[in-house]
Amino acid sequence: MATSEVAGARPHEKLHRAVILLGPPGAGKGTQAKELARKYGVPHLSTGDMLRESIAKGTSLGEQAKPIMARGELVPDSLVLKMVAQRIEEPDCANGFVFDGFPRTVAQAQYLGQMLREHGFRKPFVVHLVIDFALLMKRLTGRRVCKVGGEIYNIYDKPPKAAGVCDNDGGELIQRPDDSAEVIGQRLEAYGKQTAPLVAYYKRLGLLHEVDAAKRVEEVKRQLFEVVRGAK
Ligand code: AP5
Repeated sequence: MATSEVAGARPHEKLHRAVILLGPPGAGKGTQAKELARKYGVPHLSTGDMLRESIAKGTSLGEQAKPIMARGELVPDSLVLKMVAQRIEEPDCANGFVFDGFPRTVAQAQYLGQMLREHGFRKPFVVHLVIDFALLMKRLTGRRVCKVGGEIYNIYDKPPKAAGVCDNDGGELIQRPDDSAEVIGQRLEAYGKQTAPLVAYYKRLGLLHEVDAAKRVEEVKRQLFEVVRGAK
């Protein structure tokens, strides 16, 4: 699965900063981060995808993260921060990037602020994808992801043309192991306890913007592009 997406034509607008998409599991962070990254020609940095890649490769990080992710809990800050610090050193991050699933704790947010300052980036632009938890179970249990390119589908709302096959590259569509009803419950609980406080944290810093994520994908995308464009 792709951890960074720089696909698409040459961007006509520059980002030059980190955009953070904040929201519960299933809010649409991955779906919208891909679109935004494509528009600005910057990498889409999904810490969930990076960790799943480490698991698939059987690295030491993957071995440590696997049982934690299977339970729907957060991977320790120390592991995630090291992984992100290395990733944003890559040359493709020089013009900015879109975070999906990071930061997820106040400690991660504080460390990110320090990393961005050290790299000479402006303050991050944070978008909270606001959605009622009642909508999330259907989105997550219906999600299917392409094993090859990481394209995200939904058997209810965004089915592929042929069942189980990616429209883009013919890759097999799979269900994430943590998209079972039981683990989704744990993930939502972890979000409420550890990640939701970031909404107040970024609001206090004057960096928070809100988008209604309960709308259809195209409408959420329209709102998101509008707020990010407005920040220029
Ligand atoms: P991660 O991979 O980040 O998962 P998540 O935060 O639980 O978010 P999801 O990927 O499930 O949802 P999403 O908001 O991206 O929604 P999507 O666009 O796919 O994290 C997984 C695990 O890794 C964590 O539990 C943790 O263990 C670990 N981890 C990761 N980062 C970490 C960190 N920083 N620190 C510690 N641990 C970390 O959409 C979902 C579905 O809805 C799709 O089917 C999509 O088609 C559909 N959909 C999207 N938008 C809409 C819409 N507007 N209308 C209708 N359907 C929609």
